[in-house]
Amino acid sequence: MTRKQDRLIDEIAALKRARNAIILGHNYQPGIIQDISDVVGDSLGLSRQAAESDADVIVFCGVDFMAETAAILAPEKLVLFPDRRASCPMAKMATAEEVRGKKAEFPGSVVVTYVNSSAAVKAESDICCTSANAVSVLRSIPEDKQIIFVPDMHLGEYAARITGRDVILWEGYCPAHHHVTPLEVEREMLRRPGALVLTHPECPLDVIEISDAALSTSGMLDYARESDALDFIIVTEVGMLHPLSKQNPGKRFYCPSASLICPNMKLTTLSSIKHALEGNLGVVKVDSKTAQRARLPIERMLAVPRDS
Ligand code: 13P
Ligand code: SF4
Repeated sequence: MTRKQDRLIDEIAALKRARNAIILGHNYQPGIIQDISDVVGDSLGLSRQAAESDADVIVFCGVDFMAETAAILAPEKLVLFPDRRASCPMAKMATAEEVRGKKAEFPGSVVVTYVNSSAAVKAESDICCTSANAVSVLRSIPEDKQIIFVPDMHLGEYAARITGRDVILWEGYCPAHHHVTPLEVEREMLRRPGALVLTHPECPLDVIEISDAALSTSGMLDYARESDALDFIIVTEVGMLHPLSKQNPGKRFYCPSASLICPNMKLTTLSSIKHALEGNLGVVKVDSKTAQRARLPIERMLAVPRDS
């Protein structure tokens, strides 16, 4: 830690106290940002925190759709997003107009939308899901309903496979997870004999099929904590190695592919957090009509019991 970083951390702590603010950080954020966050978690956990927290100000360290979800769930709070450039490319792979078109093609279908989507797309949806609860969400939908899954084809295909549901898949994907191949993972398995393979369901199904478990980022943390194994191959964004190593001293975590990096998740800095808190920079605004419509599918998701 440099002296400048120490000073910034002290300044952020003072600003947080003065403003009754909390910092929410995603598991892929740079290590130093995770270390100063009040809560670190996956999309589902952070959404819940945003809804439940009694802070006046939420500084959201992640990507745009996550901060937008926090603003939708906590309209009475000020949500600050330190670097506006931090967007999720997958979330841009579906527009509200395209989703309306698909619904018109399949009248009566249920639109399940991954939270990695814009507020406008959520507003067109029946229910949202995250990687932690996609399977439970699909199971909560009556058997006779056709499901359209937006925008991640891999998560949709995985959840369809587990539930046996027939799902119309959108053609979106995460550029980081989409390019991982079974060959890369198998090479890492040869290098780390006995290691367990934990894979994020944004990866292609042929990668999930050779894994020991498909898990959200927080699911990986629970799994690694509870497992007796010492070595794990982690098939998700490389930032995940930070919380895994921090919470599991003595266990070893390996990333199998150089492509597993989300550059936008790395844009948050201590300076941008300080400036956001100091000058109300990066206020997240979702127009109230869209927010009202987008809130319903998110709340439906939050009400789905885990194992339904
Ligand atoms: P999690 O909800 O598992 O944290 O995933 C979010 C995400 O963007 C993965 O790429
Ligand atoms: Fe989006 Fe992929 Fe980055 Fe997650 S890792 S925020 S899905 S681009």
